[in-house]
Amino acid sequence: MRISSQMEKAINDQISYEASAINAYVAMGSWCERAGYEGSAAFFFEQAVEENTHMLKFVHYLNNAGAEAIIPATEKPESKFDSLEAIFQAGLNSEETVTKLINNLVEIAENEKDRATYLFLQWFVSEQVEEEILFQTILQKFDIFGRDKLAIYQIDQSLASIRSQIMAKKQIKNNNLQ
Ligand code: FEO
Repeated sequence: MRISSQMEKAINDQISYEASAINAYVAMGSWCERAGYEGSAAFFFEQAVEENTHMLKFVHYLNNAGAEAIIPATEKPESKFDSLEAIFQAGLNSEETVTKLINNLVEIAENEKDRATYLFLQWFVSEQVEEEILFQTILQKFDIFGRDKLAIYQIDQSLASIRSQIMAKKQIKNNNLQ
């Protein structure tokens, strides 16, 4: 199987975005670590590991499709944030961008009748639903608990359990897709 050059370029652009997302989440985790938000720091470092998994899926796919995965240089990510809530909002914004990019890849696959790539992308379509839910769920906590110091401490402490609940749901979906 050989994918089209348009698809090869689009997936390489996606590899580039995923690579940026790795560093963006490491930078967010680092900010949280310095600020003493241990739960959030662990959350973002784990999120960076997931982005690495996403990037590698695309790298392997291109290389195995007779194309060439380009490993990109990335720009320095944002490292200053106004608040914990602002960081999670930035995370949601980034995930919404990824969703649009994945949908764009799906559209190219549909137009080219590239069924193999279309099928490969279904995992990412499902993944993005969960990624957005994850960030939306966390952002809701600020409305529920509030934004004073104690509330933010509670939100930070609750992140591990929010994440593990969403990851368990993801795992069930992944098993169904395999
Ligand atoms: Fe690779 Fe969170 O999108």
